[in-house]
Amino acid sequence: MDSLKPAIDLQKLPKHIAIIMDGNGRWAQEQGQDRLYGHFHGVESVRAIVEGCAELGVGYLTLYAFSTENWDRPEYEVTGLMELLVDTIRKEVDTLNKNNIKLHVIGDMQMLPDYAQQELKEALELTGKNTGLNLVMALSYSSRWELVNAVKNIAKDVKAGKIDPEQISQDTLQQYLTTSNFPDPELMIRTSGEYRISNFLLYQLAYAELYFTDVRWPDFRKEKLYEAILDFQKRERRFGKTSQQIKQEITAG
Ligand code: IPE
Ligand code: IPE
Ligand code: MG
Repeated sequence: MDSLKPAIDLQKLPKHIAIIMDGNGRWAQEQGQDRLYGHFHGVESVRAIVEGCAELGVGYLTLYAFSTENWDRPEYEVTGLMELLVDTIRKEVDTLNKNNIKLHVIGDMQMLPDYAQQELKEALELTGKNTGLNLVMALSYSSRWELVNAVKNIAKDVKAGKIDPEQISQDTLQQYLTTSNFPDPELMIRTSGEYRISNFLLYQLAYAELYFTDVRWPDFRKEKLYEAILDFQKRERRFGKTSQQIKQEITAG
């Protein structure tokens, strides 16, 4: 099969792609394997998709790797995932640097074991000067956690007299989110045939185009990414306006 890559209009790439990487466990179980086997293969998809986005010139890629709620999984799986995470980061830092990729993390880092926090901190420092793709890992992340945190910090700053409640705007709130340095995702992909958001970037996805595929995450490789981007490029993003207005705006340039 010919690659779909040449069909992509590079002038109309989503600036920010966010992905709920789902289906590792089922992928493994369908083959009579342990769930961790699925996570292990999921790492290969992470590599492929990060590389695919970097090659195309996508600005931001956010990957939902572990949710606040995932802490409630059996201890064996949580420990396995943490080890896989640390191991992967350690191995990938060189590749990230070679490809000019800057790593970021969003989520409740204090929940992570110390060794994982340490490894992440180093990786953030080592890739901090890169200027290419921004790779945002959502770890121990959930949107409700993030929003509660934002509200708490806004309240503290109001109390300290740093902000006037009357002046609070959407921009203010944006600055208190973990994603304050990133534009909102334009394309959100969820793999594995589930049609839900699972506490991911609830505020930031307000106008994202949503793309759902039955493909399990370990089978989601570059061609599947190209398919999602091509689908995105066919959509008309209206932001509340009419189709006619949007067409006029395009012809007016
Ligand atoms: C996604 O795969 C990875 C994480 C949530 C860490 P799952 O582990 O949720 O796999 P399924 O959904 O059970 O198949
Ligand atoms: C969402 O997947 C979280 C990640 C992919 C990290 P889950 O598998 O945890 O979501 P639910 O439980 O099916 O909604
Ligand atoms: Mg799942």
